[in-house]
Amino acid sequence: MTDRWPVLVTRRLPQPAMDRIAERCDVTLHEGEDAMPRVDLLRDIAGKAGAVTLLTDRVDDELLDAAGDQLVIVANYAVGFDNIDVPALTARGVLASNTPEVLSETTADTAWALLMAAARRIPEGDRFLRSRTPWIWGPMMMLGQNVNGKVLGVVGFGRIGQAMARRAVGFGMRVIYFDVYRPSEEVERRYSAEYRDLEDLLAEADFVTLHTNLSPETHHLMNAERLSKMKPTAVLVNTSRGPVIDEAALADALRDGVIFGAGLDVFEKEPEVHPGLLELDNAVIIPHLGSATVETRNAMGMLAAANLIAALEGRRPPTLLNPEVWESRAQA
Ligand code: DGY
Repeated sequence: MTDRWPVLVTRRLPQPAMDRIAERCDVTLHEGEDAMPRVDLLRDIAGKAGAVTLLTDRVDDELLDAAGDQLVIVANYAVGFDNIDVPALTARGVLASNTPEVLSETTADTAWALLMAAARRIPEGDRFLRSRTPWIWGPMMMLGQNVNGKVLGVVGFGRIGQAMARRAVGFGMRVIYFDVYRPSEEVERRYSAEYRDLEDLLAEADFVTLHTNLSPETHHLMNAERLSKMKPTAVLVNTSRGPVIDEAALADALRDGVIFGAGLDVFEKEPEVHPGLLELDNAVIIPHLGSATVETRNAMGMLAAANLIAALEGRRPPTLLNPEVWESRAQA
């Protein structure tokens, strides 16, 4: 008889992933569209061998205490893992995994859509027509900013940042980037991308797109001072994590014309959006849809399931966040 493992899944995933998990595990599932209430999470994690968590679930010492010693893996259904205290899992020998790569192109598509929408005022034009305001074509009507031929500034030149650079090539743009980790010269050559200090990038770029992790170093990376370094014609795009931008400072900068526009997929106090942003036509805002396509959410689900099941079966999960736990288990 094959082993089956008790696992917790904190929100319904795309069906192929649910089916894959159910083949090998007895699943406790939080039904409903809301985040799993903390009290339910603490109750239902008890005795589980694995958990599939979302970016709305905090995985910390309190949760690990509630889980007990059987917990082998927490498989996060996201590439970002700022909701997980990875060192706490590592200290207890619990594996942690995320879902990188499968969502890079889709997230870059979303960032590009926001960039275009903010530069060319697409949602504003759509709202205008729906308001049934009388109008006639005019030379000065709703002018935006050219995208073609401009300078793209990528902050965080990892997988998604590089996917943005690939798109920029097709628009005849020049690419500059900032990252604390310098990629190889081969990567720079591939996109003709030039390194800049962050401050220099902000002053030179026509479009600034953020692709960093959220960490104490990147919290409010874009504050009032840095926003003031950008060009008044520039657009800021964020598909990373909301707290990378000081949202109140951004609302002020957009209102006062410090920058031309912003395209935002993520928010500082998600799901809340700063009220200042809600009132501004030059803020294009969407509800954290970066990876939200049928294909990509399926791929994320299958990767989270693969991580979960591999760990439970004693195989190395494909995308581990704390490989040192795996190495020490293998040596034990
Ligand atoms: C992630 O994966 O980190 C996104 O924010 C959701 O796809």
